[in-house]
This record gives sequence, structure tokens and C-alpha cells, in this order.
Amino acid sequence: MTLRATYAPSQKALHWAVAALVLVLVPMALAMANWPDGAVKNALYEWHKSVGLTVLALALARLLVRAARGAPPFVAGLPAWQRRAARASHLALYVLIVLVPLLGWAGTSACCAPVMLYFTLPLTLPVSGGMPVGEAILKVHQVAAFTLVALALLHAGAALHHHLVRRDGTLRRMGWGKAG
Ligand code: HEM
Ligand code: HEM
Repeated sequence: MTLRATYAPSQKALHWAVAALVLVLVPMALAMANWPDGAVKNALYEWHKSVGLTVLALALARLLVRAARGAPPFVAGLPAWQRRAARASHLALYVLIVLVPLLGWAGTSACCAPVMLYFTLPLTLPVSGGMPVGEAILKVHQVAAFTLVALALLHAGAALHHHLVRRDGTLRRMGWGKAG
């Protein structure tokens, strides 16, 4: 166990990059699903898939860095139930930032290939079953994505509560200011 007061700089950079990209991906997904058929809709799909795969790569990098660098000890005086809630929600967030893009990738590969990373690298997965399988997987992708959004909102709310109401050093553990 480390005695650092904050997360490593690489963990902070990856945390905020993933958060920012998820923040872009969700409105993009809502727009693309509701846009009339045509070039703009197709472009939104292509960008959604490529940015989503970027999140997957960053999420896997996060897991590796987390395994290597661990996490700083919780701020002093945090009740046991809050430690448990933090650990459980962080684990769920890690699972979802890997699972959501994987489901999107598998679903698109089954029904609506090809998957091209940023219009260049072909990355279609070998998933058979065609449209019925693809649509079923994409339905789970959608539900998992909205679960991720709900959990991330709760998580951000908890972080802001610690910062603004309890005024402890929790938010600074993931920021660049001095940890309290
Ligand atoms: C963290 C990453 C991702 C997030 C947060 C995300 C989020 C979403 C959301 C919220 C929707 C539902 C839109 C709606 O129907 O209202 C959606 C749909 C979709 N996503 Fe993702 N997505 C991610 C990654 C990916 C990836 C990597 C792919 C494919 C390579 C992908 C492919 C799709 C497709 C094809 C749909 C449309 C399904 C349909 O038309 O019904 N997504 N995504
Ligand atoms: C999609 C958005 C987000 C995801 C997926 C996410 C995910 C995570 C995960 C998995 C951790 C645990 C890190 C670890 O122990 O290795 C974490 C920590 C943290 N996140 Fe987020 N986060 C998101 C957005 C936010 C936002 C918007 C805020 C602030 C308003 C925030 C503030 C924090 C803080 C302060 C910590 C450290 C908490 C602690 O050490 O107890 N996160 N985040």
C-alpha cells in the first residue's frame, strides 16, 4: 500500500480524459440515434464508434496503471460505510468503462460492420448472428451506457459533496492542487 496523498499523475490524466470523452459520447449517441438518415447521421455513428474505442483503450490503460500504482489511503475519518460505497462504486465504474464500449463494439460488428477506427484501421470483431444478435447486444450496450451515466453522476455528486460541504481533500486526490 502506498502512502501518497493523491493518485499518480498518470491516473489523474486518464481519469479526466475518460470522464471528458464519456461526457462527449453520450450526447453524441443521443443525437446520432435521433438524427434523420443521411451523411450527418453516418458521420455521428463513425465518430461515436471511434471515440468509444478510444475510451476502451484508455480504460484498459487505467486498469494497468491502477494495478501498478494502487490508490492513496482514504481521507482520515471517512466512515466505514462510505469507504465500502466508494470501493464498490469505483469497481462498478471500472467494469462499466470496459464493458460499455466492448458491447458497442461486439454489437456493431455483428449487425452493421465494418468498424473502422478513425476511418482508417479496420477493427471489426468476428461476431456472427447478424441483425438480431447485433440489435440485442446494442440494447444491452444502451442500458449499460445509461447505467454508467447514472453512476458517474452519483459519483461526481459525492465528490462535490466532499469538496463543498464536508470540505475534505477527496476531490484534490484526483486533481492537481495540494491534497488536504
Ligand atoms: C464508453 C463508451 C461508450 C458510451 C458511453 C456509449 C454510449 C451509447 C449510448 C448512450 C447509446 C444509446 C443511444 C440511444 O439509442 O439513445 C449508444 C448507442 C450506440 N453505440 Fe455506443 N457508447 C460507447 C461506445 C461504443 C462503441 C465502442 C461502439 C462501437 C464500436 C458503439 C456503438 C454504438 C452503436 C452502433 C449504437 C446505436 C445503437 C442503435 O442505433 O440503436 N458505442 N452508445
Ligand atoms: C464518466 C465519468 C467518470 C468515471 C468513469 C469515473 C471513474 C472513477 C474511478 C473508477 C475512480 C476510482 C479510482 C481508483 O481508485 O483507481 C474515480 C475516482 C475519483 N473520481 Fe471519478 N469518474 C468520473 C467522473 C468524475 C467526476 C465528474 C468527478 C468530479 C466531479 C470525479 C471525481 C473523482 C474523485 C475525487 C475520485 C477520487 C475518489 C477517492 O479517491 O476516494 N470523477 N473515478
